[in-house]
Amino acid sequence: MTEKKPFYITTPIYYPSAKLHIGHAYCTTLADTIARYKRLTGHDVFFLTGSDEHGQKIQQKAEEAGVTPQAYVDKIVAGFQNLWDRLGISNDDFIRTTEKRHEKVVQEIFRRIYAKGDIYKGEYKGLYCTPCESYWTEHQLDEHGCCPDCGRPVQEVTEEAYFFKMSNYADRILAHIENNPDFLQPESRRNEMINFIKQGLEDLCISRTSFDWGIPVPMDDGDKKHVIYVWFDALTNYLTPIGFLDNEEMFKKYWPADLHLVGKEIVRFHTIIWPCILMALDLPLPKKVYGHGWLIVDGDKMSKSKGNVVDPIALIDEFGADTIRYFLLREINLGQDGNFSRDALIERINSDLANDLGNLLHRTLSMAKKFQGGVLSAPVGESEIDKSLKADAAETVKVYRENMDKMELSAALKKAWAFVSRSNKYIDETAPWALAKDETKKQELANVLYNLAESLRFIAVLISPYMPATSPKIWQQLNLEG
Ligand code: MSP
Repeated sequence: MTEKKPFYITTPIYYPSAKLHIGHAYCTTLADTIARYKRLTGHDVFFLTGSDEHGQKIQQKAEEAGVTPQAYVDKIVAGFQNLWDRLGISNDDFIRTTEKRHEKVVQEIFRRIYAKGDIYKGEYKGLYCTPCESYWTEHQLDEHGCCPDCGRPVQEVTEEAYFFKMSNYADRILAHIENNPDFLQPESRRNEMINFIKQGLEDLCISRTSFDWGIPVPMDDGDKKHVIYVWFDALTNYLTPIGFLDNEEMFKKYWPADLHLVGKEIVRFHTIIWPCILMALDLPLPKKVYGHGWLIVDGDKMSKSKGNVVDPIALIDEFGADTIRYFLLREINLGQDGNFSRDALIERINSDLANDLGNLLHRTLSMAKKFQGGVLSAPVGESEIDKSLKADAAETVKVYRENMDKMELSAALKKAWAFVSRSNKYIDETAPWALAKDETKKQELANVLYNLAESLRFIAVLISPYMPATSPKIWQQLNLEG
């Protein structure tokens, strides 16, 4: 047996500063569908998601709630895991940055880069609002040059900090992005990043002393007051579960990652900071970072203050997970922003799911039962209509695979649905109810019913990455094995 090709795919790890909304569910559903498609096409997939649990914001939220940061994140992260479970997410691991296995990796990476001379101690200069305990840059201040949060004056302060010499890697990362069009997709984001790097890369401040909810800087000189900057900590999550420190064979198999799927606003971290860290570690860079668009709600960005945050659990309770998955994957083109609206969701349920797929399944099963007692037999001979149906099935699979391989998930699903409609049309063209009335057309009828079941078998496979609960139900109703 030939060995399966490994495929390592990740989502961002989410902040447990609040419950996840439908936009987060969109990102994870995309990754899950790709992971399932890769498994279906014979890959040895490792699919990672998780939670990004450190930082000042989490510490503040925990204080406001009157609990420890750990207790605070534990509760919210349990909610994430429940959501992924309900949504049918097939991740192979869930990494929490508060886990010991991760702390070990982050500290080791810090040590290695420090030993290499690419981390140094320096001074962080910034504008500080003491009441708010927040640093600001000049252009973030309000129109009076004061704290944008509380309006009080800010002070210029300096804080001792560790810096990562990103400047050492600016030329290499620029050349990498320019010379490897596949590395950063879609194209538009590539241009943004190239322009960003060309403006000059400054060294990155990677430690903080103003709060302590983070992984301690592992310095032997007792310099324990620093915690590692949350993005430096978070990005390295991608190395932790695949054996970076403890399983060389596994690490060799899955690294470099095949795909980091991320939202557009965090492309910069994944295509500049992360590659610089990897270069400093002499590790190969991920093969692809894809920056997807945002899900907006009725034309507006979701936010608590606007009160338009859509809770995915409530939607799953109301409509079912596969329906939500279908909608997100069908309605939105991966690279662009897409709109969520309840009306559009209901419209899709009625037309695509109930009318197209539901009808095809229902009509096929009920005719098979009524006309042949539910027993199908292999066809003998074929009509022109049969031939054209088979040719369409083959073409559907071909285009579907081409779309999927280009990460055009919506186009692939559209293609599968065109075949659903095609199969419904086949019923109208062949009119099995008329064949059933004619004794001389028994074989023709048997052929038609078999071909319909075969179409549904194709459809069940094509939709399995998208609708992992529905697909096996169709499979079982067709009485197929496996
Ligand atoms: N913790 C960081 C990621 C660290 S990865 C090493 C983070 N977390 S987040 O919870 O704020 O966002 C996680 C992902 O959710 C991001 O990719 C972000 O783009 C995505 N989304 C958040 N809101 C979204 C929408 N409304 N629509 C689509 N994706 C959205 O950033």
